[in-house]
Amino acid sequence: MDTGERLSQRTGTAERTGTAERVVGHGRETANGPRSRIASRIVRLGSETAFAVSAEAAAFAAQGNPVYPFHLGDLNIPTPANIVEASFKAIKNGKTGYCPNAGIPELRGALAADVNASHGTAYSAENVAIQPGGKPVIGKFLLALMNPGDEVLYPNPGYPIYESQIEFHGGVAVPYGYLEGADGFVIDLDALEASVTPRTRLLVLNDLQNPLGAECSPEELARLAELVSRHDLMVLCDEAYFDIRYSGHSTSLAALEGMAERSVILYTFSKKFAMTGWRLGAAIGPREVIEVITRLNVNDESCPNHFIQHGALEALTGDQSGPRQIVSVLRERRDAAIAILNQTPGIRCYTPNATFYLFPDVTGAMRLKGLTDVESFRRDVLHATGVSVCSRVHFGRPRPGESEQFVRLAYSGIDEPQIVEGLSRLKAYLAGDVVGL
Ligand SMILES: Cc1ncc(COP(=O)(O)O)c(C=O)c1O
Repeated sequence: MDTGERLSQRTGTAERTGTAERVVGHGRETANGPRSRIASRIVRLGSETAFAVSAEAAAFAAQGNPVYPFHLGDLNIPTPANIVEASFKAIKNGKTGYCPNAGIPELRGALAADVNASHGTAYSAENVAIQPGGKPVIGKFLLALMNPGDEVLYPNPGYPIYESQIEFHGGVAVPYGYLEGADGFVIDLDALEASVTPRTRLLVLNDLQNPLGAECSPEELARLAELVSRHDLMVLCDEAYFDIRYSGHSTSLAALEGMAERSVILYTFSKKFAMTGWRLGAAIGPREVIEVITRLNVNDESCPNHFIQHGALEALTGDQSGPRQIVSVLRERRDAAIAILNQTPGIRCYTPNATFYLFPDVTGAMRLKGLTDVESFRRDVLHATGVSVCSRVHFGRPRPGESEQFVRLAYSGIDEPQIVEGLSRLKAYLAGDVVGL
């Protein structure tokens, strides 16, 4: 990965929407048809195209083909039983009406205590607004803190919703990239710093990172904290994978001196507790920002799902063997996948210590197949082997000057025997063997 150049706010919106619509006058006229009924702002709204890869894989499976699902960051591991039981109990006990807009006080307090224990911070319940998932924190953070025209630094490759939401809410999305070193990916801090202008207001930091599995070193965090203070920025600390790690401890930027008042943490129950479909997360940050985010809750969903919060309370305060078991299963899957990938012709993959993603360089593999477009490679691999992955293009608009090609494998939704079977087929295919479906 190399230094990114500034992309203008509107770059790529036509490709993204795939429509022939032109934004003219009030944005309702089209190039060759009647007035669109759709509001003009929608042209700026992106998507999470990994879901489209899921649909493609499902269609391929429906034709009777085997599919090895490495494309979506979902878990095929059940939610721990104590959490399920606590939620059922809450339903039976009538926790089925509205609750306070920022969530039930017991959960807000328990989450503040939990984060303080893992981060070394000093939050209280008033610093927490419970959300229907981690994802809503992204848009609410931007609505609370970004004015139209403000520049926002965000990781690219990265979670695609940052780019989409920044542009949708009228900000200028300014990507920063990563460099590949001996120990994996590191933020290109020089380039990031060079991208700061007097209009820069916000930084999005996803540490530990999707899709790269990258983690900031203490030196990187210290340099980021200094930069954030010097340029008077606010930070979204997306910590969706903070607890999905295989050794050592995670450190949050929010825990560094002076950073708590500049940071909003995106917390989620989705990954650590295998609760992706339950939809529960939180924004944790300075009180005045949390008050605004709570007002956005009032306007959007009134309150987060009531009875699930009692399950989440059990997740934080009850038996912790469930989340420990989840991490141990994920670690075995990671090791199985890495062992095969690094023996596969044309593929090079660093072993991340965190998240459940692998981001191998497939430039050599594409050359072996005579392909130059990474999406053609992704489809070719799906149709030849059944292995379904996402490619770099699903993680933000590729930046000018990128020369290597990458795909992302998520090993959270596929059991170890299928990992071994699928990746062995991929290895054979790239070695030139005939692989029958
Ligand atoms: C980096 C990152 N942030 C946030 C989320 C949102 O998670 P959820 O809304 O399921 O809590 C995800 C989900 O994949 C993610 O990868």
